[in-house]
Amino acid sequence: MRILVTGGCGYIGSHTLVDLLQDDYEVLCLDNLSRGAEKILSGVEQITGKQIQNHNIDLCDADATRNFFQLHKPDAVIHFAAYKSVGVSVEQPLLYYHNNIASMVNLLSCVQEFDIMHFVFSSSCSVYGNLKTQPVNELTPLGAAISPYGHSKQIGEDMIRHFSKICSTRFVMLRYFNPVGAHPSVLIGEIPFGKPSNLVPAITQSAAGILPAIVVHGNDYPTADGTCVRDYIHVCDIARAHKLALNLCSTMNANENPFIMNLGSGNGNTVLEVIDAFEKSTGVKLNYSIGPRRHGDVDVIYSNNQLAKEKLGWQP
Ligand code: WQD
Repeated sequence: MRILVTGGCGYIGSHTLVDLLQDDYEVLCLDNLSRGAEKILSGVEQITGKQIQNHNIDLCDADATRNFFQLHKPDAVIHFAAYKSVGVSVEQPLLYYHNNIASMVNLLSCVQEFDIMHFVFSSSCSVYGNLKTQPVNELTPLGAAISPYGHSKQIGEDMIRHFSKICSTRFVMLRYFNPVGAHPSVLIGEIPFGKPSNLVPAITQSAAGILPAIVVHGNDYPTADGTCVRDYIHVCDIARAHKLALNLCSTMNANENPFIMNLGSGNGNTVLEVIDAFEKSTGVKLNYSIGPRRHGDVDVIYSNNQLAKEKLGWQP
């Protein structure tokens, strides 16, 4: 099978390339490098011993996307390419709606025209909104999205749900919780675009002296220590689930409802617990202060991951 990985130069995309190449899939990497870094592919090549080249195509460019499909004829698509910062999406909503949704429209048009067999969509726990009852499972009714980022993922899921009724492509949608960590070789990892907005790269960059300090966004949430609770999951666990999701696609029927699955560890931790765990395991003292809440943040979210374990045979 020839798999198109959009956003292959990004964080989860690059880790998934490794898994697919190690399993001898034929892989096409597409990334417009607006957030991803092409140099990550040399790490992928070193780990796998296989060559991989990036196709610098912007999925918001309908003609370029269509030409790509016509030339390369993938059998399946794993669609990572999207903007993913909750805080930036609150400041620049239209940037997020345009990039994350126009790209989906163009991509799904090609899925239809070129009769793509399988499609795996990167969704997010942010589709659940701010819910009191935790952990969330896939039957939990979605709340209102708190950020434009989360809303763009809700819209992406809805687009696929409607679209799946009129095409024979098999769809799996994976709701990622908070991916962290790096491939054990450390040849690839998270390369933030500009100043990191996610917690773990902010921690590691401040430990390395690249950032002067970390600001904890609010300590007046209704949690044990007042800071937000998230479900942190290793990026290699997330990557591995994509291969399993492709296997699941091949057992599905045409026009079957898309499978939706949470990919989380099943545990919730506060921001201060993450900082404390980092300090304990590295012996490095972090310089942090408490700041105001960040717009777009939900109080608490963590997963029930039973369905992915059962349906994918996945174990984080
Ligand atoms: C985590 C916690 C911050 C930075 C992410 C992804 C999103 C997604 C879900 C999938 C929050 C706090 C952060 C800092 C802080 N899904 N924080 N100081 O917003 O939960 O969303 O996971 O892929 O794509 O972005 O992750 O790492 O930004 O924040 O206090 O400097 O850490 O307020 O409580 P978030 P995050």
